[in-house]
Amino acid sequence: MEKKETKMDLLVSLCKRRGFIYQGSEIYGGLAGTWDYGHLGVALKNNIKNLWWKRFVLDREDMYGIDAAILMNQKVWKASGHVGGFSDPLVECKKCKRRFRADHIEVGKDGDGGKGGKDCKKVCPECSGELGPERQFNMMFKTHVGAMEDDTSVSYLRPETAQGMFVNFKNILDSFHPELPFGMAQIGKAFRNEIAPRDFTFRCRELEQMEIEYFVKPTEWEKSFEHFKEQVREYTKDIGLTQSKVYEHEILADELAHYSKRTIDFEFDFPFGEKKELYGLAYRTDFDLKAHSTASGSDLSYYDEEKKERYIPHCIEPSFGLDRSVLAVLSDAYIEDEIGGEKRVYMKFAPKVAPIKVAVFPLLKNKPQLVEKAKEIYQSLRKELSTELAGGIAFDDNGNIGKRYRRQDEVGTPLCVTIDFETVEKDAGVTVRFRDTGKQERVEIAKLREYILKYLA
Ligand code: GAP
Repeated sequence: MEKKETKMDLLVSLCKRRGFIYQGSEIYGGLAGTWDYGHLGVALKNNIKNLWWKRFVLDREDMYGIDAAILMNQKVWKASGHVGGFSDPLVECKKCKRRFRADHIEVGKDGDGGKGGKDCKKVCPECSGELGPERQFNMMFKTHVGAMEDDTSVSYLRPETAQGMFVNFKNILDSFHPELPFGMAQIGKAFRNEIAPRDFTFRCRELEQMEIEYFVKPTEWEKSFEHFKEQVREYTKDIGLTQSKVYEHEILADELAHYSKRTIDFEFDFPFGEKKELYGLAYRTDFDLKAHSTASGSDLSYYDEEKKERYIPHCIEPSFGLDRSVLAVLSDAYIEDEIGGEKRVYMKFAPKVAPIKVAVFPLLKNKPQLVEKAKEIYQSLRKELSTELAGGIAFDDNGNIGKRYRRQDEVGTPLCVTIDFETVEKDAGVTVRFRDTGKQERVEIAKLREYILKYLA
């Protein structure tokens, strides 16, 4: 019997078909845990990124942007605890030699139907062979800088963007003289040699993070923690996530990362298993600045003018995965329904994140007067609205009008504008068609610009 495609299978194939996301190095059989964003995927990702930068940097007076190098001195990763502790538990099957993350393997059946009785033990998920002992596997990608390959030239591809901010803390103090509380914000690539990359872009080996390190007076961390809890939630609204699918999960004390005194995970109902981590919000205390102060010998303290004392600030860290944001938006938007008795798939993107906001069509491709008028309207919308709509205006004359609507539905274009004979012969305006309902309205050309802006807002 043929296996029924899951929602994830359908989403992955739509992403490839419509130019959102492709498997990395696909023509060579791929490279596990790497993904390439296509034309529409980049546009979607940039919209999500720009909304983040707007909320957390442009709209605030207490945030400093930074773009630090991916390669850093190896001493950074020793001081931060990553060389010693950034690892996952790994087990190897004694029979087939495959390797797995120990905490991802379910307890095997052992005469009790898999209920997990006392004799149950984990077996290889591929061949049911016996598993070897668990050991820690460091997830940082190691490399060498320069022509010599010895211990002194070792470096790592950063596994988080955070450390690039801690090591620049003093630079920001010296350049801008901010008063506490203030933050640093960065968007950039991070790399993790995940034992088991999976679930499309949910767990990749090359990922992008959007992180903030917000420095506070030690006694005031709770106030900022609450503030960012609310801000993270607001950001999930900015990108249009269904709010009933976003959860907050308090991490128990014995599960906290080595640097954290309190962490809340924001979870999302992804289609491959409910409530998976989307973002993290952590109280990192003074762990990082203190560690880098000690290891580098550089004074990373702050002089508090009010209290007339010097201390190391504490830090609140909201950390957002960009690829996970894109995946959450994609999976939340994917809808199958019926329109005019015909099945269709459409992406119900919030207009702010939609890669294309408006598509302009001539009703028929082979009627020059329609094509000419459609091109004229398309060009004038591009000229007038490109900035407001993040460039998201498209022209499409490929295939019949029904096919074009389906195609725009599949890439989540909220509005389609069609130029027909009435437009050119009677100056009777254009047809505007709405993605979610398929309904259409006639709009005067002179009023089209305002109409589009009003609808998308
Ligand atoms: N600086 C803190 C930090 O990096 P984390 O929980 O390890 O914390 C933060 O990662 C966020 O980065 C996660 O909430 C998730 O959104 C994203 N992330 C982490 N590992 C990832 C992976 N392998 N693939 C995609 N996104 C990942």
